[in-house]
Amino acid sequence: MKAPSGNASLMKPCCILNRRTPDLQNKPPMSTVYLNGKFIPIEDALIPVTDRGFLFGDGVYEVIPAYGGRLFRLSHHLQRLQNSLDGIRLDNPHSDAEWKTILGTLLERNHGLAGTHNDQSVYLQVTRGSAAKRDHSFPEHVIPTVFATSNSITDPDPAVTEQGVAAITLDDIRWQYCDIKAVTLLPNVLLRQQAVEQNAAEAILIRNGLVIEGSSSNVFVIENGNILTPAKGPQMLPGITRDLVLELAEQHRLPCRETGISEDRLREADEIWITSSTREIIPVTLLDGQAVGQGSPGPLWKTIIEFYRAYKESVRNGTTE
Ligand SMILES: Cc1ncc(COP(=O)(O)O)c(C=O)c1O
Repeated sequence: MKAPSGNASLMKPCCILNRRTPDLQNKPPMSTVYLNGKFIPIEDALIPVTDRGFLFGDGVYEVIPAYGGRLFRLSHHLQRLQNSLDGIRLDNPHSDAEWKTILGTLLERNHGLAGTHNDQSVYLQVTRGSAAKRDHSFPEHVIPTVFATSNSITDPDPAVTEQGVAAITLDDIRWQYCDIKAVTLLPNVLLRQQAVEQNAAEAILIRNGLVIEGSSSNVFVIENGNILTPAKGPQMLPGITRDLVLELAEQHRLPCRETGISEDRLREADEIWITSSTREIIPVTLLDGQAVGQGSPGPLWKTIIEFYRAYKESVRNGTTE
């Protein structure tokens, strides 16, 4: 067999085109990605198979929504990126101003692919680059791999939010540094897959009898009119949406508190919400097959989602970040 050469040792993060039958007229426009200083078509974005993100999951990432081309809570996301990089002892390859320029340019380049509202979600990833030899310990000279892409997003489906979603509880099988937004997501992948196989939208994770978070979301529990969520710590990802929900609740004088929540309290809750940048605030109306509260989105969810939507609008029209 012929030995692979040149490009064969490079990974493509997208599908492989059948180059023999190019259908140029019907080809969808190609999205632009940022890779190590260049804005290029996704088809041309190649990284070496020796990248430590590929071999070890040695890297971190962020997901940042942008409404009307404006990045949502960018400074919060960049602070969390810095914390994640510090957590894995990798220097930040860019200043905040540089990140802002890179991500802003990416959004502009993909504007044509986004809907009329120009709402997009940015994914960015920084890995510890490549080394000639596969070795667990850090390479001596690190040139990080910096990758970012953006995709069109739409508002959460009203049919879903009006009905709420199902969730299941599962044991939290993850490691002890869940506050680092690491690309090493295999436990989260396996947990989410279990939820999907049980027709649920999310797995709510329990550790030592306490609610921690979802497989890719934070969790809120409503009890007698009080909005409760677990306090931050290394056991969970400090969600940007979670923090905003707490801020909005405080601003509008809704009683809210960060506190330990037992699995029993979760099951007795009047309302349960899951939050994330892409899913926003979703009511959970079925937990392990049992109705949550009345089995439909509760009154506090209806209140908080209005404040959240107003905040989103203020980002879109540029009056806030
Ligand atoms: C494990 C985990 N927790 C919480 C969140 C929510 O974070 P954010 O609101 O910043 O999207 C995410 C988002 O992907 C996540 O993966």
